[in-house]
Amino acid sequence: MQPSLHKACQPLAVMVGEWRGSGIGDYPGIEKFEYLEEIVFSHVGKPFLTYSQKTKTPSDGQPLHSEQGFLRVIDDTTLEMVIAQPTGIIEAHNGFYAANPKSCVVNLESTQVASTATAKPVEQVRRLLRIEDNRLTYDLSMAAVGEPMQHHLEASLERVKPE
Ligand code: HEM
Repeated sequence: MQPSLHKACQPLAVMVGEWRGSGIGDYPGIEKFEYLEEIVFSHVGKPFLTYSQKTKTPSDGQPLHSEQGFLRVIDDTTLEMVIAQPTGIIEAHNGFYAANPKSCVVNLESTQVASTATAKPVEQVRRLLRIEDNRLTYDLSMAAVGEPMQHHLEASLERVKPE
């Protein structure tokens, strides 16, 4: 039986669910690319949301980037999020949010980005996520591989209707 959403997560209840859509990405030194994406925000009844994401190429469905994490609501306006990537990058974020039952904005700024020995060097990450009218959109910028903070990704996903 699915537990009820913890009281601390109620302000961000609009995020909970499955989202599907597409995005585009670029960065100095790489080819511009398109991707299909699935995001799931879920919960286990504790005061955090779980986050998982996976992407694939639109042309032949080959898996691309994926990541998983946790989002913890701190108070009426602030939250924290940790995200781990299989490429050896670990992000810790402080964030602000504004939400109502139908929409929200979440603004994340990394306080630390750690990497394993063979990961590409990422110094800083900014993520801006919005939900409105059952559509989730986000922008991601990063300072990485010696480049200053700039755009890497933008995407738009729709809520997957429960069966
Ligand atoms: C939707 C999620 C993402 C997708 C589809 C994606 C896709 C890609 C692709 C296709 C490349 C170029 C090929 C490669 O180096 O593998 C790339 C490069 C890169 N990505 Fe991402 N990425 C995503 C998220 C992220 C995130 C969250 C970070 C870091 C916080 C990140 C950091 C990097 C770095 C550092 C590079 C190398 C850039 C370079 O060498 O110039 N990516 N990404």
